[in-house]
Amino acid sequence: MGKCLIGNWKMFMDWRSADSFLSCTSRANGIDVRIAPPCLFLHTMREHAQGLQIKLGAQNMNENKEGAFTGEISPLMLRDAGAEFVILGHSERRHLFGESNKTIEKKVETAVVEGFPFVLCIGETIEEHKEGRGDEVISEQLSSALSSLNSANMKGCMIAYEPVWAIGSKEPASNNVIEQKHVFIRDELKKYFDEDAASISILYGGSVSPKNLDEILTIENVDGTLVGRASLDPEMFNEMIQITGDNS
Ligand code: PGA
Repeated sequence: MGKCLIGNWKMFMDWRSADSFLSCTSRANGIDVRIAPPCLFLHTMREHAQGLQIKLGAQNMNENKEGAFTGEISPLMLRDAGAEFVILGHSERRHLFGESNKTIEKKVETAVVEGFPFVLCIGETIEEHKEGRGDEVISEQLSSALSSLNSANMKGCMIAYEPVWAIGSKEPASNNVIEQKHVFIRDELKKYFDEDAASISILYGGSVSPKNLDEILTIENVDGTLVGRASLDPEMFNEMIQITGDNS
């Protein structure tokens, strides 16, 4: 299984900078490289990204296919605009926008019904980490989102372990924490998908950069990374494409 690199642009960039970003970006050349830009840019970035073999995705979606939901965007619209996957349950959605496990479960359900591959983000807060409750929190997040799914539903889907305290901070979690959590997540996935759990990619996210990427990718059960800040700089992104390829 080759490793994966996903850039999460969050609420940064404008369409001109998105276009010039792609003009400076290397071709993925068979490496699984993805970008989740603000959904407004999907349509304009689509052709250029395809030429670079980079998949585009969405950072969030509404759990309904359509309806009177002012300001929301449905999975069908995102797909129509060029999204090939959707990030669900990002810690900023959970903590800044109050998305509960229940909300995320509904979004996962819709994504499965629509055949829209998702990247499910999970992770504990600093308090939960300090209280030694990280595994318990992650286990609940996984069980709520995945317990009613089967292996076929997980085709093309991934899990991203993103400790809330490592996102946007100075440093990623330590190698020991990453290793322990990824083993734990793999074991939890086995509960739901038996031996098929081995083929579900588990990404790490939280202060990944070209400086630490190589080391992170050598940790067992780390199948790729979800990168925020460092994915906004084309030079750093190119470096990370190279490092991901070297580790694939
Ligand atoms: P960061 O963000 O790389 O800026 O820490 C990661 C994320 O939120 O996915």
